[in-house]
Amino acid sequence: MAQLWGGRFTKETDQLVYNFNASISFDRKLYRQDIEGSMAHVEMLGRQGILTEEEAAQIQTELKRILAQIEAGELEISDSYEDIHSFVEATLIERLGDTGKKLHTGRSRNDQVALDMRMYVRMEVAQTDALLKELLETILQIMKAHTRTIMPGFTHLQKAQPVTLAHHMGAYFEMFKRDRLRMRDIYERMNYCPLGSGALAGTTYPLDREFTARRLGFYGPTLNSMDGVSDRDYVIEFLAALSTIMMHLSRICEEIIIWNSNEYQFVELDDAYSTGSSIMPQKKNPDIAELVRGKAGRVYGALLSILTTMKGLPLAYNKDMQEDKELTFDAIDTAKGCLALFRGMLATAAFHTGRMRESADQGFTNATDAADYLVNHGVPFRDAHGIIGKLVLYCLEKGKAIGDLSIEELRAVSPVFEADIYEAVSMEACVDRRLTLGAPGREAMERVIAEEEKYLEQDKGFPER
Ligand code: ARG
Repeated sequence: MAQLWGGRFTKETDQLVYNFNASISFDRKLYRQDIEGSMAHVEMLGRQGILTEEEAAQIQTELKRILAQIEAGELEISDSYEDIHSFVEATLIERLGDTGKKLHTGRSRNDQVALDMRMYVRMEVAQTDALLKELLETILQIMKAHTRTIMPGFTHLQKAQPVTLAHHMGAYFEMFKRDRLRMRDIYERMNYCPLGSGALAGTTYPLDREFTARRLGFYGPTLNSMDGVSDRDYVIEFLAALSTIMMHLSRICEEIIIWNSNEYQFVELDDAYSTGSSIMPQKKNPDIAELVRGKAGRVYGALLSILTTMKGLPLAYNKDMQEDKELTFDAIDTAKGCLALFRGMLATAAFHTGRMRESADQGFTNATDAADYLVNHGVPFRDAHGIIGKLVLYCLEKGKAIGDLSIEELRAVSPVFEADIYEAVSMEACVDRRLTLGAPGREAMERVIAEEEKYLEQDKGFPER
């Protein structure tokens, strides 16, 4: 047991209590943020004359060394400390003696952990954004290659109207683009520095909070010290955004699982992204897509868990808040892993464009267009709807598509049909007449693709930290 307190205690902490309370097993992940925060703090203490310039410089040099040694694997973060803050401070004191003991002047672990966690989440927001951007690039490539790939669009998982693969993928482009916007939003709101909030009521030392905030890349310091130590809104916002990303990933994975099924065969996943069965030799399973779909539950769980942890907490810091870490770390690692794996799976998938076309041809996806044809020839829409309904019934009996019927068969249902009906119900015409912005028609799609390309070029993401 190695801890930073004990003066007012007459007994040792019970070992079980110590273990229950300790957080080093998971907050060791914050070592870099913890050390960087301490370096900024001590630099400021020196500038403000709270420590001498020499003391500050000495501590900074040693902190830098500790960081380098941890990163090089030369210094092991020992589990015998209560938390990462204690480990870093104790290591410093071990090396610098009394000077090391001055690091924690004007600071509490409450504002320290608030800072560490904020810097960690900020870094992860940026990394998630970068992964989303890579995914968008992959999706855009597929869109560009498939503006002519006709496939059925579905409602109720029933064939509805023909679309293109570019259009279908474009829907996901929009979703993941909004996910990036959420990253931007969260970043803007959270990028304020809680350091200097102290335990809850600030401090009597003349700290320069503007300096530390700027040094650590924040827009400025937080404006209320009680809020500074107890705000975890940004964790919740990030988990909510990660949950939304997982929901989007889960939807597209579900589609890929359906498309990859023996019945659909719209897509074949690459061998590198598929798995076999231990008993059925013929199987090639979309396990990765299923796992990504499944892991959505885990990320939602983290969100719900932290919302619940926070809901009844009085101001300011309470130890409950230590529960913000494990699940958040897990949710971040899960969502980032899923984003990267999913991108690889999508990029290597082979789309069976012939099967998609065949499926669109077969499911009366041009029935609305056939009705529109009649409307354009003066038939009121409701009547046209009824006529085409009858025609579909006739086709079902004969096992034919609308375009396969002879002109005599068509005319027997409505005399309005002319020879140009065949062109009007061709899949290409059905798609390309849909030219409103956002529709699958080729020209409309190309406009959108150009816009998305421009967006990806302009929105480069967050600065590296
Ligand atoms: N491990 C603690 C946490 O994660 C650090 C802050 C401890 N502060 C305290 N007063 N016990 O929240």
